[in-house]
Amino acid sequence: MEKIFKRTLITSALPYANGPVHIGHLAGVYVPADIYARYLRLKGEDVLFIGGSDEHGVPVTIRARKEGITVQQVVDRYHSLIKDSFERFGISFDVYSRTTSKIHHKLASDFFRKLYDEGKFVEKVSEQFYDEQTGHFLTDRNIKGECPRCHAPEAYGDQCEKCGATLSPEELINPYNAETGNPLVKRETKHWYLPLDKDQPWLEKWILEDHKEWRPNVYGQCKSWLDGGLHPRAVTRDLDWGIPVPVEGAEGKVLYVWFDAPIGYISNTKELCDAHPELGSWETWWKDSSTRMIHFIGKDNIVFHCIVFPAMLKAHGEYNLPDNVPSNEFLNLEGNKISTSKNYAVWLNEYLDELPDRQDELRYVLTANAPETKDNDFTWADFQARCNNELVAVYGNFVNRALQLTQKYYDGVVPACGELTETDKATLAEFADVKASLEKLLDQFKFRDAQKEAMNLARIGNKYIADEEPWKVIKTDPERVKTIIYISLQLTANLAIAFEPFLPFSSKKLREMICMDDFAWNQLGRTDLLPAGKQLAKPSLLFSKIEDDVIAFQQQKLADTIKANEAANAKAEPIKDTVSFDDFQKLDIRVGTVLECERVPKMKKLLKFLIDDGLNRRTIVSGIAQHYEPEELKGKQVLFIANLAPREFKNGLVSEGMILSAENWDGSLAVTTVLKEVKAGSQVC
Ligand code: 2FM
Ligand code: ZN
Repeated sequence: MEKIFKRTLITSALPYANGPVHIGHLAGVYVPADIYARYLRLKGEDVLFIGGSDEHGVPVTIRARKEGITVQQVVDRYHSLIKDSFERFGISFDVYSRTTSKIHHKLASDFFRKLYDEGKFVEKVSEQFYDEQTGHFLTDRNIKGECPRCHAPEAYGDQCEKCGATLSPEELINPYNAETGNPLVKRETKHWYLPLDKDQPWLEKWILEDHKEWRPNVYGQCKSWLDGGLHPRAVTRDLDWGIPVPVEGAEGKVLYVWFDAPIGYISNTKELCDAHPELGSWETWWKDSSTRMIHFIGKDNIVFHCIVFPAMLKAHGEYNLPDNVPSNEFLNLEGNKISTSKNYAVWLNEYLDELPDRQDELRYVLTANAPETKDNDFTWADFQARCNNELVAVYGNFVNRALQLTQKYYDGVVPACGELTETDKATLAEFADVKASLEKLLDQFKFRDAQKEAMNLARIGNKYIADEEPWKVIKTDPERVKTIIYISLQLTANLAIAFEPFLPFSSKKLREMICMDDFAWNQLGRTDLLPAGKQLAKPSLLFSKIEDDVIAFQQQKLADTIKANEAANAKAEPIKDTVSFDDFQKLDIRVGTVLECERVPKMKKLLKFLIDDGLNRRTIVSGIAQHYEPEELKGKQVLFIANLAPREFKNGLVSEGMILSAENWDGSLAVTTVLKEVKAGSQVC
């Protein structure tokens, strides 16, 4: 018998606060979760939609070291950036909090302690890699070494990016600290493990027998984990960023990020409900068996949400287990993998700035192309085509025609419906089924097909109005036009409801144009939503075309990123032919002090230096104006070649020597200097 639920708790994976969110995150998790939350709310169901930032783990610490700031600064920066972008994009979280919150630290810590006190963990001492110079144990990703398979010199402790082999740090030849380059030793350390092997029997039944309805990609991944046999998993780490392990003798250890992050769903629900008692107690949302829980995640999170977190919840004993985990596959970008570390993505915050007021366009394309069953590709050309050929040419066009004609013929007042023709009846019959078919698809998390169905409603309308040609009929049979417009307006109102979960911004705009204050999912399919005599507001275009230059700009941006990455990965130039020591000695390289430095009029690249060379003052012209401001170099000591033949520039300027600079991978130049001040004119030998 199917279970009747009273409320639905929707969670969406907590993004790492180590960078902005990108279209891959949106397509995989947040857009589908938001569609689902909006759909249930529109149906009048009791729903909470929980979000938040994942602020622990290694990625945020790596980012902090890269940027030379504290981890707290990193998570503060990205948490607000992510939160703000989600808000601007219309992701309708009921709460968006963070795992560094006090509430979360306490809840996660108490959760661990309860399991610890009840003997649910296994304690194990094992040898792990340790950097004696920094005094740190290292996580797999922070260890590098030679790949045992293909012998690439820089394989990671969990994977070789060259040959794709999955590795463990023990397998690496000559492992070292990826950041400092220090060699590593093995050292004993104690950790707490969740004995997943003991959970195998109930997990097999719960997933493989009781949840056959889960998406094939989710079910399949779980099955292969279970078939491989589950092993105990460490839930603590030797790290100095995270939630301290609340046990005596565990100093310097924190909860593993994948232990605390999913508990973040609970903490954020608690934070919300504590502040809004009218929503009910957080415990009802997590412990009452009449609450349904749905986790929206990406495919790399499946094992944690379908196996590890349920095992934690079961071990705790008081919590519900998820009812479904609709995980998506990955979205690629112009044929390449999206990558935060390689800066290869369409970042949500940049999209919102560069294509203002076009949230629905992106939402539409990401859903139309959602990677629900397989990895998919986002291209800017497809984005433009879908916006222009579907949103503008179908949905926008239909609505605009219906509303403009109402203005033109009836001053914006809904006309009365006359007798229906066979075509009218057929058209109405076609859209009478939309509610049921949309519900069926949405209830099965088939958002892509559901959106197609909503768009189909607009196609029906477009065809109807094109076939009926009210602009011609008005001349011969004005009464008939009233009916055509009446039906078109009812279709328009239906579209505003059907599209609300998918395209909330344009749906709101449309509702304002048709003065539809109250609306609910249940009205879908009705043909009397806008009664005769109702005054509508002045219409404006629902969508506008995306021009070629907008697309070209975005395509160029990605091409530039690829170029920069290639340059960054390129090997250094090969070493030049050997020269004799005598030849080397012919060069007179010296240290000079910069007395003056200025730009050269009409020569964008040049800076003119007056150098104290220890004997005299000399003028040197150098092509570094795009890399330094003159003031930055004044008073500095620089290396220069003192015996280079003078060189005359087009404008008559003569350079008496050459300042030595190093060219970086991206073409930027860095002037060379000495590490401590020396007398001007000192020779480099
Ligand atoms: O993969 C990720 O981006 C993780 N930060 C997701 C965590 S989901 C949940 F457990 F919080
Ligand atoms: Zn390899």
